[in-house]
Amino acid sequence: MSISTFNNTKNKSDSIWIDLKNNPKNYRAVTGDRPTGPLHIGHYFGTLKNRVFLQNLNIENYIVIADYQVLTDRNSNQETLNYIKEIILDYLAAGLDPINKKTVIFTHSSVPELNQLLLPFLSLVKMSELERNPTVKDEIKAANLNAINAAMMVYPVHQAADILFCNGNLVPVGRDQLPHLELSRKIAKRFNERYGTIFFEPNALLSEFPVILGLDGKQKMSKSRKNAISLNLTSDETANLIRKAKTDNECVITYDPCGRPEIANLLHLLTMCTGESSEKIADRIGDRGSWYLKTNLIDGLNSYLEPFRKKRIELSKDTGFLFKILENGNEKARCLASETLKRVREKMKMLYLEHGNK
Ligand code: TRP
Repeated sequence: MSISTFNNTKNKSDSIWIDLKNNPKNYRAVTGDRPTGPLHIGHYFGTLKNRVFLQNLNIENYIVIADYQVLTDRNSNQETLNYIKEIILDYLAAGLDPINKKTVIFTHSSVPELNQLLLPFLSLVKMSELERNPTVKDEIKAANLNAINAAMMVYPVHQAADILFCNGNLVPVGRDQLPHLELSRKIAKRFNERYGTIFFEPNALLSEFPVILGLDGKQKMSKSRKNAISLNLTSDETANLIRKAKTDNECVITYDPCGRPEIANLLHLLTMCTGESSEKIADRIGDRGSWYLKTNLIDGLNSYLEPFRKKRIELSKDTGFLFKILENGNEKARCLASETLKRVREKMKMLYLEHGNK
């Protein structure tokens, strides 16, 4: 994505942040996660925190646990159920509340009408658009695949179905997801132009730091890149990982995101935990160096996550209710998806029998 496209997206996101609080009724949020492992602090600060914020403004909040997307870079769903449970625990511990608020949590595979949207959407996309998606290319590289399956190439179109099935117009995501969102916007626009208007063109809601790097300080934080700090770790495990985070050879801490990305990333993480600006932290730490910065981050992150960890441990004592949450969410998502599919088929003149042609 070019810098100017990114800046437009960022400006739009900034103006939505202002509008949200005055007009929460104008928004419906959608996001998702692949159940391929426990969620990590990149998820937390990049999207989860914003989902909770939106929910608490009383904005409807659809969250897909993207179980079909698991199969883009692996051949088995063996661990998926376990990860689904872990992810719902993370959601609840972070403050998502599908029982009392308008948050709907569901799995792809339980909503066939959503999946059916994939077919008309595929016909609106060019092969070349799929082939040049930078996030897909990056994921293929990261997963070290020697054969790339078709699900990998088309999952951004499937993701458009995740967003458009409920006519979501707000997607709280990190920078890596922006190419997918751009494609969802194109699909919405092309559908509307070709068949008649149904869909909004969804917008991204970015957080203060749209990219959270992993402990290598180079690539985005992700489980498959083995550079993540999972949310289900203890405070000691978290401390050990932060101690190993890559820094550079300079002794004095300065804030220089372009020149010193590893240090800047540690500063960003601490800013997200304490609210103190990265420049100020760098000034305060100065020649006490990276060991001291890490000590500060360990303390900051562990105290920030303390209530989350407590709640997560409490919730994990009895996981039977997780299925109830999913059952409710699947039902609600399915209701909406069937309405949307019907409208789509109607616009496409494909409701042959329902129109009294029998
Ligand atoms: N691809 C996203 C990720 O890897 C997960 C996802 C699936 C998603 N469907 C979505 C994100 C819809 C936003 C909207 O994190």
